[in-house]
Amino acid sequence: VTTVRLAVIPGDGIGPEVVGEALKSLEAATAGTDVVFEQTHFSLGAARYLETGDTLTDDDLAAIKGHDAILLGAVGGVPGDPRLAGANIERGLLLKLRFELDHYVNLRPSVLYPGVSSPLANPGDVDFVVVREGTEGPYVGNGGAIRVGTPAEVANEVSVNTAYGIERVVRYAFAAASARPKKKLTLVHKTNVLVFAGSLWKRLVDAVAAEYPEVAVDYLHVDAATIFLVTDPARFDVIVTDNLFGDILTDLAGAISGGIGLAASGNINPDGRFPSMFEPVHGSAPDIAGTGLADPTAAILSVALLLDHLGQAGAADRVRDAVAADIADRGDARRSTSEIGDAIAARIGATVGAH
Ligand code: NAD
Ligand code: IPM
Ligand code: MN
Repeated sequence: VTTVRLAVIPGDGIGPEVVGEALKSLEAATAGTDVVFEQTHFSLGAARYLETGDTLTDDDLAAIKGHDAILLGAVGGVPGDPRLAGANIERGLLLKLRFELDHYVNLRPSVLYPGVSSPLANPGDVDFVVVREGTEGPYVGNGGAIRVGTPAEVANEVSVNTAYGIERVVRYAFAAASARPKKKLTLVHKTNVLVFAGSLWKRLVDAVAAEYPEVAVDYLHVDAATIFLVTDPARFDVIVTDNLFGDILTDLAGAISGGIGLAASGNINPDGRFPSMFEPVHGSAPDIAGTGLADPTAAILSVALLLDHLGQAGAADRVRDAVAADIADRGDARRSTSEIGDAIAARIGATVGAH
């Protein structure tokens, strides 16, 4: 029996609601297997910050590092809350975890499951994955402002791009493309304006491409990429891009493939030095928190990514199959968060006995 130490960070708003459902699926998918999950729940997020002033203490971080993987719901307060104006939660908690745990691959798959309605009239076969760089770009916080509040104020946000940081995520993306049927990789950047970082990304993609002759390589400027994501998403297989472009593209990717309530993600440390973290792409959705309207599917599909990462491909497939079956049967009936979560966990349970 393998014991997996799982850190669970339910977070704020709908975070705890969807994580509760995701844990039901995790349990169903691993029941009767030789993997046992030992959970530690961490109470972190906006609510805790407003109460104690702490976002992520050194002790929290050390304790989380002692785990094999992390499942996170969502963190964040009500947008516009002046007490959170410094992006304390986003920077001090979520991004701090991604940086400290060296989550340099932010993996965000988009699959349009049969039966899901896309806002696109003719979406075609949507099945691609965005490999978003997770530790660099403008997210580093290498900026600053001077003469604040005066008419001469200057505000700089600097995008950090290192050869080391780009090459490792590009390598991951090529390996991913090579393992997929279409074997296609699209670099998305803005090389016509961001010439220094653009040139570095392009040269490193070209260099690594030489090691993967079977992978077809394509390039798109990020603005054009948004056109094709809407007009012809089936052209994409693996997209590799920087932290900020990847953030924006993956909300669009979620929207075209059935909505943000279905979009899953993994913040991966491929080296295995630190625990990887799995979370829905969406946030804490304060507008629907407490109403039972949150769709837990994105969190459940994030559990599938977690199982993939832990080498539990069979269990991961059982989760995805159950989600696909649930989605195919959804129709127009409006179900609550727990009704969806229970239905998916029950379908997983029904297949576990059969394997
Ligand atoms: P959001 O993703 O929370 O919500 C955007 C819209 O999508 C809302 O209308 C919401 O109701 C809807 N939505 C989101 N998840 C849904 C689900 N599972 N089912 C049905 N509808 C869903 O984005 P926002 O409103 O921009 O941000 C709210 C807070 O969350 C902010 O503080 C933000 O910084 C934070 N945030 C956190 C994360 C994270 O923890 N990973 C990600 C994004 C945003
Ligand atoms: C996401 C979120 C985060 C990001 C925010 C909350 C810092 O939008 O996970 O996509 O920009 O990465
Ligand atoms: Mn985002």
